[in-house]
Amino acid sequence: MEAKRNAAEKAAAYVQDNMVVGLGTGSTAYWAIEQLGKRVGGGLHIRAVATSVQSEEQARKLGIPIVPFAEIDQIDITIDGADEVDQQFNLIKGGGGALLREKIVAAASKQMIVIVDESKLVDELGTFPLPVEIVKFGFEMTMRKLADLGCELRLRMKGNDIYETDNGNYIADCDFGRIADPEQLHQQINLIPGVVDNGLFVRMTQHVIVGYKSGDTEELRKKNT
Ligand code: 5RP
Repeated sequence: MEAKRNAAEKAAAYVQDNMVVGLGTGSTAYWAIEQLGKRVGGGLHIRAVATSVQSEEQARKLGIPIVPFAEIDQIDITIDGADEVDQQFNLIKGGGGALLREKIVAAASKQMIVIVDESKLVDELGTFPLPVEIVKFGFEMTMRKLADLGCELRLRMKGNDIYETDNGNYIADCDFGRIADPEQLHQQINLIPGVVDNGLFVRMTQHVIVGYKSGDTEELRKKNT
């Protein structure tokens, strides 16, 4: 927990007065939102867009003003976690089920800071099963087409019920093994009718903050992504 919190607090320090901020989702993003809440309490003026109902509720409780997309042209900075980060800063996201809103928010952002603990750093993506958001209609067929791409997959459940995203869709968790070409796989998956989006984030961040068990943090930056 400390490692995630340290990375999150370091990222929150990049937020400046009058910025529009994208709030991520998950146990690491939670700490960034907490820290921003403290800063707002201390007089920081920001407006925020949340990537999930959960993060929006947390932000509102802390007094962080949430604005609808209609009111903004661009997001200055988004701070979000990830399930895996490879050496090119490609990501797997969606473990918390928020990948679609997370991707929409990240794509609308001038910069995205990814906050992770060291366990999320990998040489190649794919140990974490790739979450794919699919619509309910015909989901069995959509899952068969996903399996045809060469993965083992399962429908995400919540207890005895099928898990539903904030957008009213399902998630198929797809184990492709090592993902040699994330960009190609991203495109192949999103061409399947019934797929809304998948958790591969390719060239969406240039800045990763890693928290270590030792208490240290490390900032990794990439140019020309
Ligand atoms: C939610 C996400 C999260 O960022 C990802 O699952 C990492 O979560 P955590 O910070 O709890 O490890 O993509 O959809």
